[in-house]
Amino acid sequence: MNILITGGAGFIGSHVVRRFVKNYPDYKVYNLDKLTYAGNLENLKDIDKLSNYKFIKGDIVDEEFINSLFKRIDFDGVIHLAAESHVDRSIEDPLAFVRTNVIGTVNILNAAKNSWINNFKGKLFYHVSTDEVYGSLGNEGLFTEETSYDPNSPYSASKASSDHFVRAYGETYGLPFVISNCSNNYGPYHFPEKLIPLFINNIIEKKSLPVYGDGKYTRDWLFVEDHARAIDLVFHKGKNHETYNIGGFNEWQNINLVKLLCLVMDKKLNRTQGESEKLITYVKDRPGHDLRYAIDASKINKHLGWKPSVTFEEGLEKTVDWYLSNSEWLNHITSGDYKEYYKKMYS
Ligand code: NAD
Ligand code: TYD
Repeated sequence: MNILITGGAGFIGSHVVRRFVKNYPDYKVYNLDKLTYAGNLENLKDIDKLSNYKFIKGDIVDEEFINSLFKRIDFDGVIHLAAESHVDRSIEDPLAFVRTNVIGTVNILNAAKNSWINNFKGKLFYHVSTDEVYGSLGNEGLFTEETSYDPNSPYSASKASSDHFVRAYGETYGLPFVISNCSNNYGPYHFPEKLIPLFINNIIEKKSLPVYGDGKYTRDWLFVEDHARAIDLVFHKGKNHETYNIGGFNEWQNINLVKLLCLVMDKKLNRTQGESEKLITYVKDRPGHDLRYAIDASKINKHLGWKPSVTFEEGLEKTVDWYLSNSEWLNHITSGDYKEYYKKMYS
């Protein structure tokens, strides 16, 4: 099998690439990534010499390049993760999200459809998406696969659009596809623009912890390796034309999560208990901030037998340990353009 994984140098993509390269030595895994600010080949240096792995640098928006790639290599499956992924950046530059997440996805869909059109048997387009397409929940209820799309940010609107295009290619051209919509991931190799790694980095540096609004926003957190395992299952056992919700059964109000993280970090850094909590600073809210996300993951549990393998406390401790023992990785990122980003968004 030739498998194309897009966005494999990013956070979740690198865990998916690692899992497929290690678990399926008979597959040839092609990682296509543009290496934007979020793409980092250091995420894969433990597996990049393996003979069933190949990195291809390229842009999913580049139609000619994508078409020629699909002419050159006969892919059996595509796992599409490449995207602009940060809500705050989408508020600053929505068009970048339309280009990559919408046009880029249609480009890949088109190339897959054209190259597979004479025989779809054994082919699969797997689109990796987010629970944010469902919009915001109130204090009650969960997102199911039947929940209507109701995106509120330019990021979630672009992902919702890409999901619709995938479904449309299934209906119109018969393209075999699966989609999964997952909750917030955390774990090693997470770029420090998102809540957990940003706050880990700030705690290490004793910088303030910018909590948006009143901190009562709620997210459902899943350890990234559990997401990669779910993607593996859906890719191999998921039903054609189906959607699977993936979540951690693990809701946290931001402020409670941040306080737990402070406690764990104080312990790990041998600081006095309560020291990091003093860094919490309430700052201006994110515009259009979704109040609550929570996933009903019973379908993937019932149909494919998937459930998270670690508790949040275990996953968070593993994550903190990873960041503390990979300071070189973190320093490489935070010493570059990141400084400008941080100044622009937080000063
Ligand atoms: P990320 O930002 O860490 O990585 C994205 C990767 O895509 C990077 O390696 C980047 O270089 C690459 N990329 C961006 N634009 C590209 C382009 N034009 N051509 C080729 N490559 C390009 O993102 P992530 O957090 O790993 O998310 C991966 C996917 O999972 C995304 O589709 C995202 O919407 C989805 N998702 C993320 C989460 C989460 O919590 N992070 C949750 C659910 C779903
Ligand atoms: P984030 O990690 O950006 O993920 P998403 O917006 O996709 O859920 O943010 C998680 C939550 O943390 C969200 O409610 C916004 C909040 N947040 C802060 O309070 N401060 C921050 O600096 C960041 C990046 C996020």
